[in-house]
Formats: sequence, structure tokens, C-alpha cells
Amino acid sequence: MKSSRLPSPPGLGIDVQTTAPGNVEAEVLAVPVLAPSDELPQAAAGIDRDLGGRLQRLAAPGELSGDRGSTLLLHLNGELGSERVATAGLGPREGVDADAVRTAAAAVARDATRFGGTVAWAIDETLPLAPAEQARAVVEGVLLGAYNPGRWRSANGARREIERLLLVGEDLEDAARRAATVSEWVNCARDLANAPPNVLTPEELARRAEELSGDLEHLEVEALGPEQLEELRMGAFAAVARGSHNPARLIVMRYTPPGAADGGPRLGLVGKAITFDSGGISIKPASKMQDMKGDMAGGAAVVAGMGAIAALGLPLRAIAVVAACENLVGGDSYRPGDILTAANGKTIEITNTDAEGRLVLADALWYARREGATHLLDLATLTGAMELALGDLYAGLFANDDAWRADVLAAAERSGDHAWPFPLHARYRRYVDSTYADLKNSSELRQGSPVLAAEFLHEFAGDGPWAHIDMAGPGFLERSRGDYLSQPGGTGYGVRLIVELAQGLAGGTAR
Ligand code: BES
Ligand code: MN
Ligand code: ZN
Repeated sequence: MKSSRLPSPPGLGIDVQTTAPGNVEAEVLAVPVLAPSDELPQAAAGIDRDLGGRLQRLAAPGELSGDRGSTLLLHLNGELGSERVATAGLGPREGVDADAVRTAAAAVARDATRFGGTVAWAIDETLPLAPAEQARAVVEGVLLGAYNPGRWRSANGARREIERLLLVGEDLEDAARRAATVSEWVNCARDLANAPPNVLTPEELARRAEELSGDLEHLEVEALGPEQLEELRMGAFAAVARGSHNPARLIVMRYTPPGAADGGPRLGLVGKAITFDSGGISIKPASKMQDMKGDMAGGAAVVAGMGAIAALGLPLRAIAVVAACENLVGGDSYRPGDILTAANGKTIEITNTDAEGRLVLADALWYARREGATHLLDLATLTGAMELALGDLYAGLFANDDAWRADVLAAAERSGDHAWPFPLHARYRRYVDSTYADLKNSSELRQGSPVLAAEFLHEFAGDGPWAHIDMAGPGFLERSRGDYLSQPGGTGYGVRLIVELAQGLAGGTAR
């Protein structure tokens, strides 16, 4: 028997064992099953034999369901090394993908928070997903599924934390270790998005970016304040920030690993971090306004994504630019009718102060280019209409370059942070033509809001490949998505995508 301990994320150890699943010692041993459940896949069939056909007897009448995300927990009497067996439904065989495994693993993890301890998972080589991909999806499912957004509660009931995840199979160490690192950064982004806006101010976000990069090599963080924004003539970003007493921060993170070639690509990540979006003078309705604490989810993904890139030591240079401020109502708020001058010199007529994301991004995109980013990606909870169009699963993707769009799309699909392409077209520009200035920040027509917002950003993206992800839907959930993201609030959308994209740009192959 081979057993190896991996460097563990805080609170959860991850081990890999090559042994018969029946022998592993755990509070619960999970075995994947399919729908319909009457034909058990290999690993479950092996456990069924150890248990004298108990699983099969439950499967026939349908008590044991193979539906995706359904579990059945059996207490044992010493028949196996583990105290319990959990069947984990993946749904029909032809639909088994990484999301199915994540969802099944998350369901087991949620069951396991009733008793804690060790969760073991039997990798099944007969499933239509490579064992290393299964391992990665199980780690992600458990770590993301067991996430607790209730950390501001004074008591968390009968919840018991899972201490250890044991993957039963061969050659899974690399995939498991990587997935654990990335998942921890995803949960870090969720913590940032869920943090209340009275705590997570722009200054506090900058402080946390500095704090989390403290232990990471080759990662430097700098935070620019209002005076520096003025020197840089960031008139668009500065105007949005003016309504709040909490000063703005332009958070700049530079990752410069020694191995990366000087002339090589430099990934530029730009994030919208409105720590609270009231809409400003064009104020939002009260209902659900509390969820606008999540309007910094794009910026959180960029901060945590840089953390993940540095923690994995990916061999490429990257720069992150996160525009953090609050969109409030105050005596110095910017108004509809104001004309602002952005850092690139373009003048913008304000027609709606609630279209603030594109203003802060305009100056942040310009800055990322100025600092040498060759390939830009911005992430933003930009338009409510994007959520109306795609719901909570897919983000919208816009790009000025076919190859870069294809790269981002491939990274999205490989990572589980789903994205779908939308058009950019010069003829959408007329929606933001202004009578008085170079352009205006919103259109009176209730049409094409995500597309014209993207066309607006296009004006500030400079030369070279740029992509924009509008993650208003999947970035922050009003309610459980019913899959491995079973909690409302921040999802960490974008962190996994960023890691895949960076890996691809660094010249690495997919995991
Ligand atoms: N942060 C919002 C977009 C949003 C809405 C994200 C709901 C997630 C859920 C953004 O700043 C905004 O208010 N957009 C406006 C733009 C409009 C005024 C042109 C919108 O989409 O309604
Ligand atoms: Mn807004
Ligand atoms: Zn906003």
C-alpha cells in the first residue's frame, strides 16, 4: 500500500492511497454510482461484494438513487475499514463530466459535515472521465461544497469540519494537490465577496491583497490612493469613488517569476471591485440591494487568481489591476450630466451613475496596458441583463481577438467556470454616442446592455488582445445553484478560469 500526504490547505489534509477501497479507514467511504442505479460501476460493485450485496438490494427497488447529487448513507458494523459507506450519484453515464463529479462530491461533503473526520472517495477507472480528472473534481467538489458562508454567525450548530480527504486510486497526487491549492483560492475569493461592505472597504480589500501575498514568492502588491489616481488623471474611476467617505484603492499586483522570458507574454488581469453598489444618484431599488456587496466579485477573483498563480509558481509574468471603490450617494457624488475625462483622454458623459463598473474599468484597463500587459482579461459583475440572459451558470464573454477569445473559452470549459461568447461590433458604438462628449456611459434604450457595456470598455482596452467577462450571473448567487455551489453568495467564479488561462499562456498543457 502506498500512501502520500500532500501539503494541505488550512483545515483539510488531502491524502492519496492505493489500496482496496474496502480497506481504507475513514468516517465515510464514498463510492460513485450511476443512474439508473441497478448496474453498479466497478468501485461500487466491489464494495457491494464486500457487503454481501447490500447495495444491489437497495438499488433494485430504487432506494439507492444514482441521480446526480443524491446520496445514501449506510452505517456499517465493521464489514469494511470505514464506519459508513455513502453512494454518490453522478446521474446517467453519458452525462458524467467534471461538474457531475464535483456535484456528487459536494453532496457527500455536506453529509459529512454532520460527523467530520475523514472522507474517502473511491476513484472508478471505468467512468468516462480520466482518474486524474475525477480526483481534481472530487477535491474541488469537497472543498467548494463544504464551504460555509455563515462565518459571521456566533454559532454554527452541529456542524463538524471535515479534517481529511482520502482519494483511493493511483497517480492522483499532482492533480489532487493542484486542485486543493486552486480550490482554497476560490474559497478565498468567496470569503472576500461574502464579507460585508462595512468591513470589506476598498482599503480593507487592498490590505487583504497585501496580506495574502505576504507568503508568496515573486508577488508584489501596491495600492494607489486618491492622490495618485488624480496624478494619473483617472477621472472616471475617481468620480465613482467620490460619493463615499471610504477612499478608493487601485490595487496593483505584479507577479514576476525568475523563469519567465523577458520578451514573453504578460497576462493582464483587471477586476471590478465596487465594494458596495447603491447605484449612486441613479439609486437602485431597495429589494436585494444587500447583494450589491458582491459587486466586487470580479476584483476578488483577480486578487485570488493572482494568489493561485503565484502559489502554483506558474512560469509567466502577470499583472493584476483591481479598481476598488464604493458607489454611494453623498454631497460629492458624481451626477447624471457630469462629463468626466478618463486617463486615456476620452471624455464621458454620465447618463446613469449606476453604470459605474465600466467607468472604473476604463481607467484600470488603461493602467494595465501602460504597465505592459500584452494579453488582457477583465472580470466584472457588469450588467443585470447578463444575469437575465444567462442565469447563474454561464458568464458572457466578449473579445477583440479570435485567438484570445478561443483561449479564454477553452480555459472556461476546462475549469468549470463556464462562459459563452457574445459579439462585439463597431455598430453597437452608436448606443453610447453622446451629444456632448466622446461617449456616454449608458443608453436610454432598454436594449443590448451587456453588449454596449462591452463596446464601451473596448474604447479603453488599448492595442492587443483583450477579453471581457461579464459575470453578473454566476459571480454572486441569490440562492443555491443546486450543484456543488450549494450556498448563496460569492462563488469564486473566475479563479479557476484565470489559473487555466495563465497555465495555457505560460505554454503548459491542460492538467
Ligand atoms: N453591479 C451592477 C450590475 C449587476 C446587477 C450585477 C445585478 C449583478 C446583479 C451594475 O453596476 C449596474 O448597476 N448595471 C446597470 C447598468 C445600467 C444602469 C446601464 C444595470 O445592468 O442595470
Ligand atoms: Mn451599478
Ligand atoms: Zn455595479
